[in-house]
Amino acid sequence: MTVRSKMYAICVIVFAQCFASCLPERSAKFSTQYSADSHIARGMEYYSEYCIRCHGDGAGDHIHPALTITPKLGSPTALARVILHGQAGLHSPQSLMPAMPEIPDEEISALIVYLGATFGGYNYEYLDVLEIVGDVRTESR
Ligand code: HEC
Repeated sequence: MTVRSKMYAICVIVFAQCFASCLPERSAKFSTQYSADSHIARGMEYYSEYCIRCHGDGAGDHIHPALTITPKLGSPTALARVILHGQAGLHSPQSLMPAMPEIPDEEISALIVYLGATFGGYNYEYLDVLEIVGDVRTESR
């Protein structure tokens, strides 16, 4: 065996070990990705349950504002306020969105992550959205 072919053999072994040791880390990354997706997936279910009957696909109409362009998408706090406290008269004199304090904080958090990602391209996964929703629920109005 020449020195060169020995070196080559060592390189192959080192590479194989390195590749094997990378595998668990890669699968951990994939599972994080998966749970992020399922958070959004749950938000989508809650959107169908609580919001879709008025807001449809979010494009908006003469009564319901477009969710795709509202500046409130840029703020999880503003979104939590609209859902928990409702909103009236901003879009048109008669328009009213009912307050929905009966929705649990956990579900509102998933909704906010879903709205941010779907309509605004924001990633709120890294924020403690649950805490933000809790603060908005207890704030004095
Ligand atoms: C009964 C109908 C109805 C339901 C159900 C409803 N909305 Fe609304 N929503 C409205 C109306 C009407 C407005 C506009 C209110 C206004 O003009 O002040 C609005 C406003 C909003 C706004 C603020 C838009 C802006 O630019 O100010 C957001 C965000 C929003 N809704 C999200 C939701 C989410 C999320 C849900 C489900 C949890 C939901 N809505 C459920 C009717 C509804």
